[in-house]
Amino acid sequence: MPPSLSVDYCGLRLPNPFIVAPAAITETADRIRRLEDAGAAAVVMKSYSETEPQRRHATPRFRILHHRAGPFSADVLYSYEQASVFDLDRYCEEIARCKSSCAIPIFASLHIATDDHWREAVRACEQAGADAIELNVSCPHGVHAMGGDEMLPAMAHALAVAREATSLPLVPKMTPQLDRPDLAARYLASSGASALVMFNRFTGLDVDLDSMRPILHGGYAGHGGPWALHYVLRWLTATYPGLPIPIAASGGAFSSDAAIKMVLAGATVVEVCSAIIAEGPAVLTRFISALEEYLDRHSIASLDYVRGIVCDRLTATDDVDRRNRFFAAIAPGLCTSCGVCGRVCIYDAISEGAQSYAIDPDACDGCGLCLELCPTEAIALHPRPTPLER
Ligand SMILES: Cc1cc2nc3c(=O)[nH]c(=O)nc-3n(C[C@H](O)[C@H](O)[C@H](O)COP(=O)(O)O)c2cc1C
Repeated sequence: MPPSLSVDYCGLRLPNPFIVAPAAITETADRIRRLEDAGAAAVVMKSYSETEPQRRHATPRFRILHHRAGPFSADVLYSYEQASVFDLDRYCEEIARCKSSCAIPIFASLHIATDDHWREAVRACEQAGADAIELNVSCPHGVHAMGGDEMLPAMAHALAVAREATSLPLVPKMTPQLDRPDLAARYLASSGASALVMFNRFTGLDVDLDSMRPILHGGYAGHGGPWALHYVLRWLTATYPGLPIPIAASGGAFSSDAAIKMVLAGATVVEVCSAIIAEGPAVLTRFISALEEYLDRHSIASLDYVRGIVCDRLTATDDVDRRNRFFAAIAPGLCTSCGVCGRVCIYDAISEGAQSYAIDPDACDGCGLCLELCPTEAIALHPRPTPLER
């Protein structure tokens, strides 16, 4: 029997864990239909904002920044796309259009500043047919683009006010700019959240060296990329154990492997955004088959068996094995004598020989840096017959 990808999220049974996160790709029913066709289990609509409605998006608003420095590289999707261009009436019309033309659940997303408007907007979204509502109190460009400590009470307050006006599932979207996201998540769960999104994007800045001005539209921008995954995984594992509500992981799901890691770290669903912006809806189709193939290969019948499995497998600081168990050795035939390993070894264990570089196993600390940097993969770690105590 093929593995089951289905998950329960916000009272909905979804055929797979892939939800499309809000951005202009989810602004209209037409765009959402393409995402449904590609396999999206649900879609969160582009956020409606009380403070910036009906403003055209800035042009241009996207940059892909490639950082290359020595052995390091990182790609950043740097962008300034504010809230939906629709006012509340038009936003709700679009929800209704989605509901009449798509079969998948539609989440509204609201970014609001005042209590009265929270009530009005959640009621209007419910009437228009939304299946659930994300509370986007963490937009990196919005009125709440403040520090996490200020944002948390704002999120809890928004939740309380919205709850007065609707019985729909309410899902706060957390900022990554929190001191302790795990504690914040527990607080929001006890304040009535139906689920949580971890996380929105980071706010940030880049500067043009010639003009000495901020790039793009000239101000702060949201930024994310594949590198965001590690932050998300770290806090998923701290948050998942014992949390009474499901988590939607968001941030860094650029590959199916990244998405699977999020589930193993505790996510019930994975919200995908930038990968779809950059590669189109077919990303979802690929993620779904890769997840199915992964479960099949590991003989896992359902995601319920592996969700959060990593949480119990984290090694506590005091239990980390600090003995010197390995030494590095160079395969002479593969060494090109480039000298990178010798330059980075702080233990003076590596020296240039007649034919190739060589490593003194007694001086080697087994840190593994030289093999990470060797351009020809000539270095490997080997277990010591008896670990050295240091
Ligand atoms: C261009 C762009 C627009 C976005 N607009 C919204 C938005 O309107 N509301 C929201 O809650 N998040 C918004 N986000 C954040 C995404 O929904 C998502 O949480 C974030 O990009 C992290 O996921 P990713 O790494 O898959 O992109 C936007 C992100 C991008 C890149």
